[in-house]
This record gives sequence, C-alpha cells and structure tokens, in this order.
Amino acid sequence: MKVKVGVNMSYQEEYLQSIENSEAFWHQKAGLIDWYKSPKRPLSQDAEGFHRWYADGELNTSYLALDYHVSQGRGDQDAIIYDSPVTNTIKKITYSELTEQVAKFAGALQSLGVEKGDRVVIYMPMVPEAAVAMLACARLGAVHSVVFGGFAPHELAVRIEDATPKVIVSASCGIEVDKVLPYKPLLDDAIEQSEHKPSHCVILQRPQVNAELIEGRDLDWAELTSKASPADPVALKGTDPLYILYTSGTTGKPKGVMRDNGGHAVALRYSMDTVYGVEPGDVYWAASDVGWVVGHSYIVYAPLLTGCTTIIYEGKPVKTPDAGAFWRVCAEHNVKTMFTAPTAFRAVRKDDPEAEFLKQYDLSKLERLYLAGERLDPPTYHWLQEKTGLPLVDHWWQTETGWPIAANPVGLEMMETKPGSATVPVPGFNIDILDESGEKLTTNEQGFVAIQLPLPPGCLPTIWGDSDRFRRSYLEQFPGYYVSGDGGYIDDDGYLFIMGRTDDVINVAGHRLSTGEMEEIVASHHAIAECAVIGVQDELKGQLPLGLVVLKDGIELQHQTIQKELVHLVREQIGAIACFKTALIVERLPKTRSGKILRKVLRQIVDGQEYVIPSTIDDPAILDEIKQQLRPF
Ligand code: COA
Ligand code: AMP
Repeated sequence: MKVKVGVNMSYQEEYLQSIENSEAFWHQKAGLIDWYKSPKRPLSQDAEGFHRWYADGELNTSYLALDYHVSQGRGDQDAIIYDSPVTNTIKKITYSELTEQVAKFAGALQSLGVEKGDRVVIYMPMVPEAAVAMLACARLGAVHSVVFGGFAPHELAVRIEDATPKVIVSASCGIEVDKVLPYKPLLDDAIEQSEHKPSHCVILQRPQVNAELIEGRDLDWAELTSKASPADPVALKGTDPLYILYTSGTTGKPKGVMRDNGGHAVALRYSMDTVYGVEPGDVYWAASDVGWVVGHSYIVYAPLLTGCTTIIYEGKPVKTPDAGAFWRVCAEHNVKTMFTAPTAFRAVRKDDPEAEFLKQYDLSKLERLYLAGERLDPPTYHWLQEKTGLPLVDHWWQTETGWPIAANPVGLEMMETKPGSATVPVPGFNIDILDESGEKLTTNEQGFVAIQLPLPPGCLPTIWGDSDRFRRSYLEQFPGYYVSGDGGYIDDDGYLFIMGRTDDVINVAGHRLSTGEMEEIVASHHAIAECAVIGVQDELKGQLPLGLVVLKDGIELQHQTIQKELVHLVREQIGAIACFKTALIVERLPKTRSGKILRKVLRQIVDGQEYVIPSTIDDPAILDEIKQQLRPF
C-alpha cells in the first residue's frame, strides 16, 4: 500500500525502507539482539518453499531474556512482579533469581529426557512458574505449547494429540475470582481422551489444592527441581521452533501456529522500541493470560528480551476485588505502559462508569494504554480517553503474526489517532485491501485485509505438522499474499480500520473462538438435525455465540431442555470461556441453492443491520420467518 501519513518523516522513512528493502532492513534489525552467531543471510526459503528468517544465525531465546541481562548488570532488577489479588500475594523475582529458577527447571526437564526438538505442553494458571516453564523449554530448545487454563479437557486433549509432548507441566489448581478450580482432574481426563500419552507430568502444588499424583508418571515440581542441576542454554538455529500455540480456525481442529526463535526475538525486540516505546528497566504490563498470544509475546518474551520488568497478574479487571484493580496494579508497580483487551475496560466502565476508583491512585508513571484482541469500539475509546487523559494505542494483530501488524508507531513518532482505527501498518507489514477476486481496492473501500509476502520476522512460518493447511488457510486465496481473515479498509490518510472477521472466527471477551467448532459440538446432540452458530454483538464481551438449531423430526423436547443440554455440551467440550448460553429452535435455516447456510445474513438480522438478500438464496421467505423468531434479540 501507499502510506500517506503525517508530516514527520521518521515513520514514513522507516516504513518505506522496511518494504522496499526488506532484507537489508531486517538484516540491520537483527543487530538488536545478542546472537551466538550473527545471521549473514536474513531471508531464505525452506524445503516447502516458505519464507524463513535468519536460518543461518544461532541464538538462544532464554539466554537473551535472562543471562544476557544479568551479564549487562541487570541481575538485581525485577524481571517479574507476580501480583495475585486472588491469593493476596505480591512477589518480586529479579533477573538473577529468574535465571537460576529457569536453569534449574530446565535441568529438571532434562532429567526427564527432554531435549532439543521435544514438545512440552504447559497447562498453567497465571503464576510465575508458567513463565519459568516456557523459558526452561526455550533454554533446552524444547518446543513449548501453552494451553489456556480455561480450556476443557477435550480441547487440551486435541492439543496433546497434535503436539505429542514428552512432558506436560501443570499445577494443582487455578483460581477464578473466588472459585478454586482443580486442574489435575482436567489434565487426567485430557490424557485419558488423547491417543498420545506423555511420559511424565510435572505438577506445581499450590497451597489451595493438593493434587493427587500418579506414581511413575507424575512428579512434584518442587521435589524434582530441588534435585536438578542447572542447565545451560543450548545454541539453536534462527529457524528452530520456539513454540506452538493453538488458535481457533474455522473447523473443530485448532491450528498449531508455529513460532521460530530468531525472527521472534528480533521482531519482539523491535516492537518494544517501535510500537511500545519502552526501554530496558521500564515496567511493562500486559493484562492477559499466558495461554494467549498476548501472554506469550507481551507478558513473557518481549518484556524480558528487552530487560523490562513484566507483571504476571492473577486477577480480573473487576471483582478482584473491584473495578479499581487495574489502576491499583499500575500505581503500585509504577507501570509505564499497560496493555489489555477493550472488553476488560468495558467491564471496568460497567462497574464504575464515572471512574471513581481511578481517582484513588497515583498514575503519574503511566504513559500510555494499549488495546488489542478485538476492535476498540469508539464509545470505549472515548470513555477511556476522557477518564484517563492518556494516549490510547489501538493496535491490530493476531496469534499468527505474534506482534502488531498495525499500530501507532509511538517509538518513531506519535501520530494523531482516529477512533476505530489501529492507525498505520507497522514497518515490515505491506498491507493491501483486496476484493473477492484479489484485485486491490482503493481507499475507503472495504475488503479482505491481506499482507504481501514475505511476512516480516516473527510471523508464523507454518502450521505445526500441517504445511498443507498453512497453504490452504492463508496463502492460496490470494497468491503472493497472507490473508488475515479480517475485513477492513484504509482511509485517505493511510489509516487502517479493521471491521471484523470474514470467516467463522468470533471474539468473545477478547478470546478467539470458532463458531465452526461450536457447530460441530451442537450438531453432535442427538436431537439436532442442523444448526448454525453465529457471533452476535454484545455490549460487554464484544460478541457472544448464538446457536440456531433445527430439530430432527419427531423430537418433542422442550426448548429449555434442549438449550440446557447444548450449553452443557459446549461447556464440557470447549470450556466456560465459550460463553455459549443461548440456543434457539427455528423451523428452517436460510440457505443458498447449493445448501450453504447464510450465516452473514443471519448475523445481520440478529444485529438489526441492513442486509441484502443474496441472489443465490434458495427460499427468501425463510428470512421473514427467521426475523419473527429472532425478534426477542
Ligand atoms: N480458567 C478457568 N475458567 C475460566 C478462565 C480460566 N483461566 N477464564 C475464564 N474462565 C471462565 C469464567 O470463570 C467464566 O465461567 P462461568 O461461566 O462459570 O462464570 C467463563 O469462563 C467466562 O469467562 P469470561 O469470559 O472471562 O467472563 P467474566 O464475566 O468472568 O469476565 C471479563 C468478563 C471481560 C472481565 C473478562 O473476560 C476479561 O477480563 N477479559 C479480558 C480477556 C483478555 O485479557 N484477553 C486477552 C487478549 S489481550
Ligand atoms: P488472536 O489471534 O486471538 O489474537 O485474535 C486475532 C483477531 O482478533 C484478529 O484477527 C482480529 O479479528 C481481532 N483483533 C485483534 N486486534 C484487533 C484490533 N485492534 N482491532 C480489531 N480487531 C482486532
């Protein structure tokens, strides 16, 4: 795309360099990190023909995030502040202490036979040990796959089966506000459901719950680690995998987004300068969960690669204990930049519309608020700006990219913001808006948001174990492009507006979920003939899933009974975070003549938006029927 922004040329120059001379640009940016062996050839192609960055460089991400800073005199600086209102704990861990803990835990994993290339699944709540386990894997060159603690056993099982881990690391429980949730029964159930069995599980026993260990397979974290010898970082190739993170696609099978070591470290380090404008020693807080990409990139890796202090927050924006929780953490730990999902601030606004809690805290150190994970809706934008007076940075990114694709590049220059826009493409990302046939659209025309290849360092080089799916999902629709799955437009000033997904992925309270997967689960119920699950707008959570179900002939079940059973089924298979609470029985679903359910029209009807009756519709009368039945919404 042509960038036409601002009067200050620094962003413009940097951006154009990154696009017009991308290899030289990223060769130079490689110097942001301390390689064991500097890469000479920044970009190459692998045997599959996929672009790869820094294949001939050697590094270790755990060394860069830990030992390197100790060697630079940061040993006594806090690396992690663990702030857990749910257990009433605040604990600080310095870079020296964290290095020691990670080296010991890496030694513990080594004692269980874990070595370079082996997979380790991590199913943990928001405790520092989750980061220790990730960094310990990185130290050995083992590939971690963190699974969000809110996922049900079935979801965990699918991931275990795909990643085939040698070891699983977990904890005895998680804590959701005031509910203690034992993890071990979930883990045991998942392993039972999975064809693949790990050799060992390492369990962190938390004081709230003592998990029962299975002899021979399960080991106690503390006991195992106390006997272990510290392990040194292993030299890895830039293209060696660091982690797999599963994310929702359009089918029931999640996609294992793979991340490699070299591109990831360079891109994250670069983003901390360019997008977040932070420096070593700053306190940086991403209020997310290690189970999501935000947690991987901006709770663990980027702040530590930069020598910042990161916060691991085990709490919620509200109810732990009140809507002042975020402000309290920012004030107490001198946070410079805070990052969360808009839904979290919508929850704060709901409980404290006048932001009375904000007045109780000294937020003089807080410079900017970052928002991502879903669209920053203008009402939330205006509320936050009015109440905090802080600059807000709405930035757009995905699990696949691992770092922001579009943002206000505050480290280069602070641009004027436009509510509803994630501002401009971050250097490295060459964005076009395309129509269905792949033609470039002009400004202000809405279409598919696509990124020209090669993607910059840090983005997924492939899907774990399924390069065909990588090609099919992202590369084939528009040759020469990565298709983001989002729709949007670029305005006359070069500002990007992301308007929502063009596929069956929805965003519920900042959590990415697949309606396709929910449909598969709903359809498995004995009474259901067919169904559609669509995302409908919700004031708090952005979107919520709504099931429309057609019953099999002769089924006499009451609506309430069906709904209860379907809600239970989705909770059991995906987890409570799916927030699937409503299923409506309808007579028929609108379809095209070839039998495709018209989900987009359904969505528009439910959200009260204008819609065009597609020319391919089989029977337009169904739309009126459906409108009547959906009237309560
Ligand atoms: N482990 C177990 N269960 C979890 C969980 C976890 N880690 N996270 C959420 N859940 C459960 C909740 O307890 C709840 O269960 P319930 O239906 O039995 O009450 C359900 O999943 C839905 O949770 P959630 O969507 O979080 O709703 P909520 O009403 O509890 O909280 C928000 C609403 C907006 C406060 C909360 O979703 C939030 O903080 N969102 C921000 C998310 C975020 O940071 N995303 C990362 C992108 S940057
Ligand atoms: P995830 O992979 O979980 O990070 O979710 C990525 C998806 O969240 C994107 O494809 C978008 O649909 C949505 N998203 C993330 N950030 C933004 C943003 N700033 N504006 C609009 N949508 C966003």
